[in-house]
Amino acid sequence: NDLRAALDHARSAGLTVGLVPTMGALHQGHLSLIRRSAAECDLTVVTVFVNPLQFGPNEDLATYPRDLGADLRAAAAAGADVVFAPTVAEMYPEPTVTTVHVDGLVDVLEGASRPGHFAGVATVVAKLLNLAGPCRAYFGEKDWQQLVVVRRLVRDLDFPVEVVGCQTVRDRDGLACSSRNVRLSPDERRAATVLSRALADAAALVEARERDPDTIRRRLTEVVASEPLVRLDYAEVVRAADLAPLERLEGDVRLLVAARVGATRLIDNVGVTVPLERAVVVPAPAGPATAGSEEA
Ligand code: PAJ
Repeated sequence: NDLRAALDHARSAGLTVGLVPTMGALHQGHLSLIRRSAAECDLTVVTVFVNPLQFGPNEDLATYPRDLGADLRAAAAAGADVVFAPTVAEMYPEPTVTTVHVDGLVDVLEGASRPGHFAGVATVVAKLLNLAGPCRAYFGEKDWQQLVVVRRLVRDLDFPVEVVGCQTVRDRDGLACSSRNVRLSPDERRAATVLSRALADAAALVEARERDPDTIRRRLTEVVASEPLVRLDYAEVVRAADLAPLERLEGDVRLLVAARVGATRLIDNVGVTVPLERAVVVPAPAGPATAGSEEA
């Protein structure tokens, strides 16, 4: 009620609201979202909530890093006006029987490896968007599938929300910032950079005109396999907008990987835009045949 009242009050005074949902343990990736919201909106709300619904029974809910004191300081320094950090009992006073399922998009990639994960994400995001009301909501490309799921949820259920996707922030060694990186030993941390290297390498292949998804997947798999401390979960290339499988790379595509480094599961992805193949008109052959066209 306090959050609703504060945001309704701000909007009635003509202010725009930016929402940055997080699970806390804020790092430079989160802070880039907060800074962007603070630059684009009058009032920025950061939510900090480790959502039990999106963790599987054998996942790291109990050990997920938590430090609300540090989060409050970091969020304020990055330009947050309000931090909403509810307890589990506040968010789920009774076991939820209503969940949000975004058909199709949630059963592939992360969804295949983490059954139920996206129902948990979509449900809590729907709750947070309902609590916040009309706003711009900032999500990172680091979790590409999550961004696609949230965009679709907002469209299908008519939330008065503009979803803003923000570029992945990386450390100097290329590793994408993640709350889970703190768990990596120094050796694991060095090994984990193979994910961003594999993506950069495969993206370079696409830039060099490779158009076969199998070849791209194979390259991703080979590069990750070169690092013995890293066990690949999946390497995929899909249509960026809706994660559809591709027979041939075309338009905006997304290369995604997930892997375990020791006990820590990490994900990363990059986007590549493949120019559309132009149809070339070949001169009409002599005789009765008509002009044909051929793929460039
Ligand atoms: P969390 O993992 O804390 O991430 C919160 C937001 O920060 C997400 O939008 C995520 O994509 C973004 N983010 C994380 N690492 C990033 C990086 N290196 N660069 C840019 N953005 C990054 O994602 C969640 O929490 C939860 O699923 C949530 C949406 C809060 C629902 O519980």
